[in-house]
Amino acid sequence: MIEAQSKEGIVRQRYAAGAKERADKLCCPVDYDSEYLKVIPLEVIERDYGCGDSSRYVREGETVLDLGSGTGKICFIVAQIVGPSGKVIGVDMTDEMLEVARRSAPVVAERLGYTNVEFRKGRIQDLALDLERLDNELKRNPITNAASFLAADELAEELRVKQPLVACDSIDVVVSNCVLNLVEPKSKGQLFDEIFRVLKKGGRAVICDIMSDEEVPEEMQNDPELWSGCISGAFTEHGFLQAFEHAGFYGIQILKRDTDPWRTVQGIEFRSVTIQAFKGKQGECFERNQAVIYRGPFKEVLDDDNHRMERGRRYAVCDKTYNLYKKAPYREFFEFVDPILDVPLDQAKPFDCSRTALRHPKETKGQDYDVTTEANNKCCDGGSCG
Ligand SMILES: C[S@@+](CC[C@H](N)C(=O)[O-])C[C@H]1O[C@@H](n2cnc3c(N)ncnc32)[C@H](O)[C@@H]1O
Repeated sequence: MIEAQSKEGIVRQRYAAGAKERADKLCCPVDYDSEYLKVIPLEVIERDYGCGDSSRYVREGETVLDLGSGTGKICFIVAQIVGPSGKVIGVDMTDEMLEVARRSAPVVAERLGYTNVEFRKGRIQDLALDLERLDNELKRNPITNAASFLAADELAEELRVKQPLVACDSIDVVVSNCVLNLVEPKSKGQLFDEIFRVLKKGGRAVICDIMSDEEVPEEMQNDPELWSGCISGAFTEHGFLQAFEHAGFYGIQILKRDTDPWRTVQGIEFRSVTIQAFKGKQGECFERNQAVIYRGPFKEVLDDDNHRMERGRRYAVCDKTYNLYKKAPYREFFEFVDPILDVPLDQAKPFDCSRTALRHPKETKGQDYDVTTEANNKCCDGGSCG
């Protein structure tokens, strides 16, 4: 049995050992694209403790942050996808993992012909605190009594503000492979806030993790083997998506869910699930007379700002929502209706986004619109309008 405050120490201990020697019990088989594995040293590939492949959802030129990067495999795969114009940052708290990853980085860079990966030491629930800088400061001013402990605490706070490990609004995609479950319960809320903080507006999180089909009972959570083995810290699928929602994300969805469980313990199934969530719905709402029509196939939908829309009806939306819907993951589900007379943004009035209102076509066209036209040739030339 373990106390809540020692869970992190147990995780560190287990993965320090896993960095030195492959630990079979920690492996959940994943089908990576073998093309990308060719440049990666064998020890990195062998000491793989992931459960999914978030690299498949990353694009060229993006800046990617990998939470709990381990020996660096996902970082080295992503480095090839984002290419020389992109950048990859791996964060891990375990020295032994960082040692393997940092030793392998120049080998991969030489094989690729460019360098775009770096590994930083930190805790993923506190991405502002650079643990290496703190280490260095503490070597010069070690903690010897309560006063120096308080001074170290102040120093950590100063480092967070002045020299953050990962700056606010700096990342296009946060990925992670089988790590979020390992963060102790009291820090899990802060973890999602940190993911939100570091992402750029319009950025996204693509997270692979082990999830449970039922709540994990406390006695299982207190089992050190199950906790550090990526089992008993697992969220339920619903709990995981909800944590993103509470942190302010939108467009949250399951991208992949293994049908077969990785493990079943006392009747509870634990399987790999990959989710995606976007940052960027916050901001002011302006009226530019735009409208959207939900195409279906569901009878109605509810978005993360509580807009409830019935299939086929025309709804008034603010400029922000209109532009969010024009991008992934929404765009394929909507038709977009621009007003005939554009309302420039600097002349637009505030829009009340707390209610969902229908938009009469006359609002789009103008109240005096009474045009009559001949049949549109674009539609019927050649005898077909479909
Ligand atoms: C299951 S392994 C996954 C490693 C890697 N993502 C992979 O795919 O092989 C978990 C990793 O997360 C790191 N880790 C666990 N909790 C962490 C935390 N709170 N902050 C930073 N790293 C953490 C561990 O040191 C370990 O390297």
